[in-house]
Amino acid sequence: MLITKRVEFSASHVCRNPLLTDQENQELFGVAANPHGHGHNYVVDVTVEGDPDPVTGMVLDLKKLKELVNREVIQTYDHRFLNREVEPFDHVVPTVENIAIDIWNRLAPHLTQKDSRLQGIRVYETPDLYVDYFGEAA
Ligand code: NI
Repeated sequence: MLITKRVEFSASHVCRNPLLTDQENQELFGVAANPHGHGHNYVVDVTVEGDPDPVTGMVLDLKKLKELVNREVIQTYDHRFLNREVEPFDHVVPTVENIAIDIWNRLAPHLTQKDSRLQGIRVYETPDLYVDYFGEAA
């Protein structure tokens, strides 16, 4: 069974790789390369896979999942300028793809039980654009 918790945060970013020239960044990322940055309201779906516990009827304690996601994702990302304030985005371009990978890496070590393990991370950057990431188990 899959169970998904959805959370949202607002953050700003610049899509720019310092290894490329200004012109290359402009061609690759367009206005998103503007160094002043721009914001998105990101939506994150955290999906956990497991079987409901026969006693509690739950795959996992949803209060604990909420606390974990608040601590690892919301407190890390909300109202941040990702390139300047959130590792690894000082040297990794904060595309929606890389944000999904980073969120996976933050959560996976805490969701390793055989009966409640992290299954996937979906991140919406806009209502019509999202990525799904299924990383390695921690
Ligand atoms: Ni953007």
